[in-house]
Amino acid sequence: MMQNRRDTSGTRFFIETYGCQMNKYDSELISRILIDHGYTQASNADEADILIINTCSVREHAEQRVLGRIGVMAAWKRLNEKRRLIITGCMAQRLGETLIAIPHVDGVAGPDQYRLLPGLVNSKLTLTQARMLRQTHTEDYSDIKPNRETGISGWVAISRGCNNFCSYCIVPYVRGRERSRPFNGILDEVRNMANSGFQEVTLLGQNVNTYRDGATDFPRLLTEIAEKTNIKRIRFMTSHPRDLSLELLEVMGAYDSICPHIHLPVQAGSDSVLERMNRGYTRNHYLYLVEAARKRIPNAALTTDVMVGFPGETEKDFLETVNLMETVRFDDAFTYRYSSRPGTKAAEMAGQVEENEKSRRLQYLINIQRRITLQKRKSMIGSVVEVLPEISSKYSTREWMGRTPTDHVVVFPKNRLERGVPVPVRIDECRGATLRGSPVISPMA
Ligand code: SAM
Ligand code: SF4
Ligand code: F3S
Repeated sequence: MMQNRRDTSGTRFFIETYGCQMNKYDSELISRILIDHGYTQASNADEADILIINTCSVREHAEQRVLGRIGVMAAWKRLNEKRRLIITGCMAQRLGETLIAIPHVDGVAGPDQYRLLPGLVNSKLTLTQARMLRQTHTEDYSDIKPNRETGISGWVAISRGCNNFCSYCIVPYVRGRERSRPFNGILDEVRNMANSGFQEVTLLGQNVNTYRDGATDFPRLLTEIAEKTNIKRIRFMTSHPRDLSLELLEVMGAYDSICPHIHLPVQAGSDSVLERMNRGYTRNHYLYLVEAARKRIPNAALTTDVMVGFPGETEKDFLETVNLMETVRFDDAFTYRYSSRPGTKAAEMAGQVEENEKSRRLQYLINIQRRITLQKRKSMIGSVVEVLPEISSKYSTREWMGRTPTDHVVVFPKNRLERGVPVPVRIDECRGATLRGSPVISPMA
């Protein structure tokens, strides 16, 4: 029997997003899928009939935060029997059956199941159905135009999933095998973004350096986007040190529109730890890449992810990480305490480090990086940098907050300058960790 599509007009949804940029991008995809099925976006959970919590599994703490949030949402659901609570993302993939067993959870969908969401919001999944929420290993959502937020800066996923199986990491298990999106679709998407006023694109993948569609590898993709679209700024993340090529560095150095910033997670400074992490490079190779990048890309900014307390990490190993941080002097670093993830190889390794010791190492590393970050930011005082004004600063509606091509955040007076139009700004001071400046009237050289 033929069925008419259910009338969803007037049903409002709201998405809360946890985790990385890829999850934020996925929330924009989910939003588009629901809008295309007649739902409308609410501005907060209180106004919504459907609440989607898009979750992260990367560390235990991330999962606990979400479980706490789901608990609180029992009261939200009780206020209206028509309300629906749906859990999406990496945690939905990892813990689907546990989550669907929570009485006020109405549906779960892992990262490859978002096309099913319009159907899911109207029916509670059975455990058998939840079990069927398997990765497809092929879904790339390449035909779906994300419902982007800012109008100035947007994300484009160039690949999904990951094949690297770093021994500590849950991502390959919850996001499935790496698949690259077709090159033409990416080019069209960036071109359309530029034509509709976007200034900046960030290409996303767990390891962008292994992107490939036929003969198009990542350096080629960047070259084509730089040459064949009008987008002003091109960023990308994440680069894996094992796969970052000299060719990529050359391409970065050759085009002004490719931002001189590389996020290059090192994870550890000790070869034995890197080996047990299954990272596929040595400390020396990493230092070689840093030198090569700095030689080829003027003013290159480097940021990293680093972890302390990996199983078997000795004090000597840890001090090698400290030494690497002091040697490279990153512009910024995301520092993490190792968190054991069930099902990963590292979770089974001997020599799990005590939580107290992990905390001590983390604090030590944070202090070192804070000092370096501050020194590097202070060295920018007096220089003139290009800033793309994005949003009002959190301190004052009379100030813009924007980013430099090196991804430094700068706050400056609005002076009737337009949002989304890059402006030269002289850096005047570094207050706390925030760079503050004044717009320069004369055009940049
Ligand atoms: N694909 C990217 C990469 O290779 O760096 C990002 C992966 S993950 C989403 C971001 C960061 O989380 C990683 O670089 C790593 O430092 C950290 N991370 C991943 N698994 C972790 C774990 N089990 N415990 C602590 N930190 C972890
Ligand atoms: Fe995780 Fe490693 Fe893949 Fe990054 S490259 S997502 S750290 S397995
Ligand atoms: Fe991202 Fe967290 Fe998933 S970091 S890929 S949302 S596990």
